[in-house]
Amino acid sequence: MHIDLVNTVQPTLVHGQHPFMTGPFTPNYQEVNATDLEVIGEIPKRLNGVYLRNTQNPVHQPLGTYHPFDGDGMLHLMSFEKGRCEYRNRFTRTKAFLEEQAAGHALYAGLIDKPSISQRPGWGARGGLRDSAATDVIVHAGKALATFYQCGEPYRLDARTLELEGVADWGAQIMADGGISAHPKVCPRTGDLLFFNYSKHAPFMHYGEVDSKNRLVHYVPVPLPGPRLPHDMMFTENYSVLDDFPLHWDESLLGEGKHKLSYFPNQPSRFAVVPRRHASKAIQDQGIRWFEATPTYVLHWLNAWEEGDEIVMHGYHQKTPMPPKGYDNKGNTLGPERYGPTIYEWRLNLRTGHTHERRLDERYMEFGMINANYWSHPYRYSYNMIAHPNSFLFDGILRYDHTSGQSQQYMFGEGRFGSESPMAPCHDSQAEDDGYVVSFITDMNTNRSECMVLDARCIEAGPVARILLPHRISSGTHSCWADAREISTNWPGLT
Ligand SMILES: [Fe+2]
Repeated sequence: MHIDLVNTVQPTLVHGQHPFMTGPFTPNYQEVNATDLEVIGEIPKRLNGVYLRNTQNPVHQPLGTYHPFDGDGMLHLMSFEKGRCEYRNRFTRTKAFLEEQAAGHALYAGLIDKPSISQRPGWGARGGLRDSAATDVIVHAGKALATFYQCGEPYRLDARTLELEGVADWGAQIMADGGISAHPKVCPRTGDLLFFNYSKHAPFMHYGEVDSKNRLVHYVPVPLPGPRLPHDMMFTENYSVLDDFPLHWDESLLGEGKHKLSYFPNQPSRFAVVPRRHASKAIQDQGIRWFEATPTYVLHWLNAWEEGDEIVMHGYHQKTPMPPKGYDNKGNTLGPERYGPTIYEWRLNLRTGHTHERRLDERYMEFGMINANYWSHPYRYSYNMIAHPNSFLFDGILRYDHTSGQSQQYMFGEGRFGSESPMAPCHDSQAEDDGYVVSFITDMNTNRSECMVLDARCIEAGPVARILLPHRISSGTHSCWADAREISTNWPGLT
């Protein structure tokens, strides 16, 4: 293994017993490039591209109480080319990160702190948060785009080197509206980035599109009755679908500066069906159409597509969006037992205006990935994470066949925790599942980490390759796969 130590960030964090600062969540402070990595098995030669994973990786002692969504952003990258690979990791040097580096201490409140303890105005729909761009990562217009869950500035990075390019320049209005939420989507047909944002100010939500050349080409209000907390979105060929779920701040307390997350089971779930800019004039003329469904919360969607008069959506319906004892900061309310996420189907009938819904499987799963070339199209396979009991950690992957209902799974083993695991189609892929599933594993038994590569058709057979990393990495958040052809910078080839 050849390791280049690129930089070391000095933390001020006092390591205690916090479950999201210790064990598999122990932060990393060294930024490295690593080649000649030890490989157990063989790296598939038909895999050309990058696996990117975001991480909440705290640097400074919190001003208040740490929440796992407060950490600074660190991207971990594994590049694949013709059977070779390279690993890199970098902090995303957001404005907040640089300000706190200059100050030598934290400046911003965390999610469960009072915003008033922030020493700067900060970011996020709530205000006063550190925009760490630590939630999600996707590749659009040739660059990696890192985003923050409660809306922040979209940070563009070289998807091959992780060099920071800066904040995407999509105009002042989007920044005035708080930036963009995590979970924008890239349409595989047009290359457009589809995004939304939300805030405490009317109209409370917007929808936008950025074309494949990184130009803002569409931005419209999606008025809501009040401040909401959507997290993800979905799209079809002609529509994007945005969320209004009855899990949001108690508006009666916002005037007192209290951001109390509350569930309102007497309110319906609502979906905004928003015409995409490429849709026909007839569709555009219909404007935004709203559909209602039974109350729940959906943290993450799997896919959506049009079928006759219907928009079909698959995502994770939560049986209990609010835990009986409320939220805590011990990590006990982030596991699936708290909210009961199961694969579920909603059908929005554009002719009748009615919604039909059904549960597809009873097992608790979340953080599912599909072959992203099938986003907005009928699909067959999803790769879902099996959560570690009562914790924000993943014990395994379950491949679900949406046609037959059959499934197969691979468990990482005791003390080994995986990451959100994208399906990586081969560069000459011949079928939806002609590819691999990749995941970073944090192994507490060996104090090592690895990148695991599984055959997407047969994940239960175990990895075809295990690539050992130069250091144990913190468990992380969202991830993506991007083929080398999607990356605009010179693909220099691996040495
Ligand atoms: Fe998310």
